[in-house]
Amino acid sequence: MTVHIGAKAGEIAETVLMPGDPLRAEWAAQTFLTDAVRVHKVRGMYGFTGTWKGHRVSIQGSGMGMPSLSIYANELIRDFGVQTLIRIGSCGGMQPQVKVRDVILAMTASTLSTPSRGIFKDLNFAPCADYGLLSAAHAAAVARKVPVHVGGIYSSDVFYDERPDLNEQMTRHGILGVEMEAAELYNLAARHGRRALAVLTVSDHLQTGEALPAEDRERSFGDMVHIALEAAFA
Ligand code: HPA
Repeated sequence: MTVHIGAKAGEIAETVLMPGDPLRAEWAAQTFLTDAVRVHKVRGMYGFTGTWKGHRVSIQGSGMGMPSLSIYANELIRDFGVQTLIRIGSCGGMQPQVKVRDVILAMTASTLSTPSRGIFKDLNFAPCADYGLLSAAHAAAVARKVPVHVGGIYSSDVFYDERPDLNEQMTRHGILGVEMEAAELYNLAARHGRRALAVLTVSDHLQTGEALPAEDRERSFGDMVHIALEAAFA
């Protein structure tokens, strides 16, 4: 048991999927896992453990933003010995070829700041995905015929960003999408020698203003869960 994860030792699997929203964690556990059990509910940030095709897997909400994700990922890594962490979440599209509903596999995650900044000081560390997970996720997306893009994303600290110039620079540098968690997940995986990947559905588009209709969200989220599970156990 840790400060923020009320599960007992052994109740969390070595592979954990991390949606931002704890209710998505509940939906994914009930929909995709066999014998899913809620292992804790501290702060309503639920964690579940079950099996998928015979593999033990947990699904733990991360909350929104890097400070929140950092708490859960640190405790999963340090106290529960988690080896593989896959974020499943949404992002805003930043390139014309990236459409709402498409999936982005984040090869790298640029950021202005993360909870790890104090370690890096002036160094611009390049947080990146585990290549084995990335290539397996790509194969899984292609097999499911899900439109998929692989490249850099931007992990922002602000959803309501008042700096249009920054978004323009990201787009100019080929960044595919913006979300708020992946860079810190990649930092922590690198620091502790674990595997990490962010699988993201484009839920809205910064240039076109298009947004995923509510009725499509579940199907898109389901595609992400499939891709993440197939990548984790490829
Ligand atoms: N900005 C930041 N995070 C997001 C966005 C966005 O536009 N869409 C989904 N997650």
